[in-house]
Amino acid sequence: MIRAILIHPDPRLKKVCEPVAEITPELRQLASDLLETMYEAPGIGLAAPQVGVTKRVLVMDCIKDGPPEPMVLVNPEVVWSSEDVSVYEEGCLSIPDQYADVKRPAEVKVRWLDLAGQEQERQFHGIWATCVQHEIDHLDGKLFIDYLGPLKRQMITRKMEKLKRERARAD
Ligand code: NI
Repeated sequence: MIRAILIHPDPRLKKVCEPVAEITPELRQLASDLLETMYEAPGIGLAAPQVGVTKRVLVMDCIKDGPPEPMVLVNPEVVWSSEDVSVYEEGCLSIPDQYADVKRPAEVKVRWLDLAGQEQERQFHGIWATCVQHEIDHLDGKLFIDYLGPLKRQMITRKMEKLKRERARAD
């Protein structure tokens, strides 16, 4: 099921999300809905709070060409970050059509639970590293615009407020 993606500013996007205590059928459904919603958008990552569920779950697939590689990360944690940084132009499905360069560690090692409840660990680099850090930030109520200067952030926030007013009128 495709779920509605919340648009910034929204208090649910600013919350620190709750760890998942147990892999339940409901959680599997959430993960499946997140993937479907992400692919449909289309996007390369989506976190549960973006559909209004403040739980520590995210999905991603950064494959551009080739067979899809859907990933579901439950309770993900960065356990190591490289000192090397990289800059990517980031965007966010909760901040449509706005992009800005963000500097982050170039590589990170992340530990998480998969949908079988098994612990997984992987080192990410390139766009995957940026994406997983961006999505984990969502679980801590942080958006990529929080890395920008206050003027740029306010400008984007005002644009989003206007977009939301227009969308509300259209409904
Ligand atoms: Ni995002």
